[in-house]
Amino acid sequence: MKAVRGTRDLLPPETALWSRIEATAREVFARYHFGEIRTPIFEETALFARGVGEETDIVSKEMYTWEDRARAQSEKTQSLTLRPENTAGVVRAYIEHKLGESGQLQKLYYIGPQFRRERPQKGRYRQFFQIGAEVIGPPHAGSESPLRDAEVLEMLASLLDALGIEGWTLRLNSVGSATDRPAYLARLREALQPVVGQMCADCQRRAETNPLRVLDCKVPEDQPIIDALPRIADSLDAASREHFAAVCAALDAAGVPYTRDHRLVRGLDYYTRTTFEFTHGGLGAQNALLGGGRYDGLSEAIGGPKAPGIGFAIGQDRLVLTLQAQQAAASERADACVAPVGEAQNPAALALARELRRAGLRIELGDGSFRVRKSMEMADRVARSIVLLGEDELQSDVLTVKDFATAEQKKIPRAELAKHLLAARAQVEKGQ
Ligand code: HAM
Repeated sequence: MKAVRGTRDLLPPETALWSRIEATAREVFARYHFGEIRTPIFEETALFARGVGEETDIVSKEMYTWEDRARAQSEKTQSLTLRPENTAGVVRAYIEHKLGESGQLQKLYYIGPQFRRERPQKGRYRQFFQIGAEVIGPPHAGSESPLRDAEVLEMLASLLDALGIEGWTLRLNSVGSATDRPAYLARLREALQPVVGQMCADCQRRAETNPLRVLDCKVPEDQPIIDALPRIADSLDAASREHFAAVCAALDAAGVPYTRDHRLVRGLDYYTRTTFEFTHGGLGAQNALLGGGRYDGLSEAIGGPKAPGIGFAIGQDRLVLTLQAQQAAASERADACVAPVGEAQNPAALALARELRRAGLRIELGDGSFRVRKSMEMADRVARSIVLLGEDELQSDVLTVKDFATAEQKKIPRAELAKHLLAARAQVEKGQ
């Protein structure tokens, strides 16, 4: 027998990377004063139908749902579902345990499996793992503040950096609130009416059931039509506009880079105002490392008090894929490029390269035609670091070493250089 399609076993040594990611996430979350929540893996089906939305792909096509048998005549059967995501469960727990009555913001994180019956492909599984967090509370605790959004985004940027994920992009949008969204939907429906006949079958269905999702379509032929549709940013009311501007201003102040993406609507119905995704080019079609946003009406939608919130979930499987690809790329590179900065240093450079290679290091050797920008770029492609060899270095026997991953430049005595480069290689091999 084999593991069911879309599920898989995680084995050593790969599980060490999974554990390291979880340990780093816990450490970073603790710094932002989050506590852990563990909710059940299955819930009543109605929770997801009402929370995530009947018309979403997740609820309408992807859930593992079953009628749970009654054990006694007096018991009724119950429709249960393996959780396809964890936000609805966290908000259900928030309501059930009256966490809002403390008057404090609840900052909760979770790590665990989720289940969706999607078509399996690279980065997409039927049992996958999320690392997520939610900030939720009564409005008087500050749960609606744009600073909460910015803090969550800044925490994510710090977490991805701490994990060593290189080259992520934060895409940010506002999808408006319960008060200004209806006006946008009316404009969108009106604009879609004359053109929807030329669009793909999915768009034709979405235009009826969930028009916002048309903006998410990836079919190339539909793109010019979608680009000409009204933009949500032009329909936001003053309060939503100010909220979004305040999120952006706080991110600017903290130096967190982002790009605005007016088509980012996300696949779950509970979102209001801020929505975001962190994407990574190395992931291919399933390029979202994580997604999230604000959900100011979710608690009320599932029968609770007013409790605005914001949160995210990271696809842990995709973090692992990204880190593995980075490691593979890094370990293919030479340990260092020895670069003489003038013709006069060429012979000494050969001697240094020989010394380092004999210590077991993989070394590229440049020559005296070294030009700062060009040669650095070239060395960055083939080696993890560059060792500069000029007249000063030769006389002092102290070499300048630049590590490309960290952009750090250090002075290292020649006698310690091989040891230093071997340690740097060991770091990369064990995934930092
Ligand atoms: P989501 O965008 O549905 O949001 O999922 C978040 C992340 O989980 C995705 O960006 C992706 O990395 C990963 N993911 C989703 N489906 C799969 C799959 N089939 N295989 C592998 N990875 C997958 C949510 O789940 C929301 N609950 C996030 C949230 C929290 N919003 C507010 N709070």
